[in-house]
Amino acid sequence: MKLKIAVLAGDGIGPEIMEQGVAVLSAVARKYGHEVTYKEALCGAHAIDEVGDPFPEETFQTCLWADAVLFASVGDPKYDNDPTAKVRPEQGLLAMRKNLGLYANIRPVETFDCLVHKSPLKDELVRGADFICIRELTGGMYFGEKKEGTEEAYDTNYYSRPEVERILRVAYQYARQRRRHLTVVDKANVLASSRLWRKVAQEMMAEYPDVETDFMYVDNAAMRMIQDPRFFDVMVTENTFGDILTDEGSCITGSMGLLPSASTGSSTPVFEPIHGSWPQGKGLNIANPLAQILSVAMLFEYFELKDEGALVREAVKASLDANVRTPEIQVEGAPHYGTREVGQWIVKYIEEK
Ligand code: IPM
Ligand code: MN
Repeated sequence: MKLKIAVLAGDGIGPEIMEQGVAVLSAVARKYGHEVTYKEALCGAHAIDEVGDPFPEETFQTCLWADAVLFASVGDPKYDNDPTAKVRPEQGLLAMRKNLGLYANIRPVETFDCLVHKSPLKDELVRGADFICIRELTGGMYFGEKKEGTEEAYDTNYYSRPEVERILRVAYQYARQRRRHLTVVDKANVLASSRLWRKVAQEMMAEYPDVETDFMYVDNAAMRMIQDPRFFDVMVTENTFGDILTDEGSCITGSMGLLPSASTGSSTPVFEPIHGSWPQGKGLNIANPLAQILSVAMLFEYFELKDEGALVREAVKASLDANVRTPEIQVEGAPHYGTREVGQWIVKYIEEK
């Protein structure tokens, strides 16, 4: 297969983890005879510094040229505490999502047996937890009408029926491929937008009689996720709730550095870790590259390259079992491995397989 990949490494630890993600992608491609062409493009704080725009037109064109985008992370502390900044790195990510029509963000929360003790939750609660959060990505408060004054400000949580319907269809498709249990997460006891979600979902349920659909308020879902994470199979929710719940989900696994995601919609799909740019870790060779590498597995799987995806997952699991881990998940007394060493170990595993 021929694959054109846009590489958007972004800010902070982004370039370091991206280097390993690309190395793994290339190793698998060599093994299976796929021809990959890469094109790098600017985004985030980096792009603001160089061309004054966090998602420049040239980057957009590179994404359109590509079959898939491999994205790392954006964000820089110099913008975080400056509410007056006219342009922010995160706007680049949001512009990419909007311009590529990436309305469905797939965030799997999987656990690795050898890491359950790294979770702040009790082992017996976490072991075997395996669910997917499907987050709506191009609507809600992130993109609704806004006002930002000095005396008043608001964000509008707008959703239209077609927006709700299409994300629910994605969620039902995932549920059908898994344990056939869908939880629709909303705040229908308070929010009009949530009541629309619930109404549409209740209408659609009849089309999917083979899937058990239940409804949960988001506050309750946040609690249930740490009380009994194994309850969930597929959950679907709006943009803001999904943002919050998936950070919570990453704690179940034990490290934010382990969770990949795929964003799909009407144009080029994007594969990216769910974590941010972790500026404090930048340049120190300590960031966990596994979320980026697992995003590569999701990329292969998107193109139905199942063996390729499975090989990446196998190599990741082998590295964890061999205690080839970055410091935040390393066992006591085991040797130190950095971002590069973990990535290179995985590449070697793939080459020798
Ligand atoms: C995420 C991030 C982004 C979001 C930020 C960086 C804009 O937190 O992908 O979850 O809020 O969507
Ligand atoms: Mn987030």
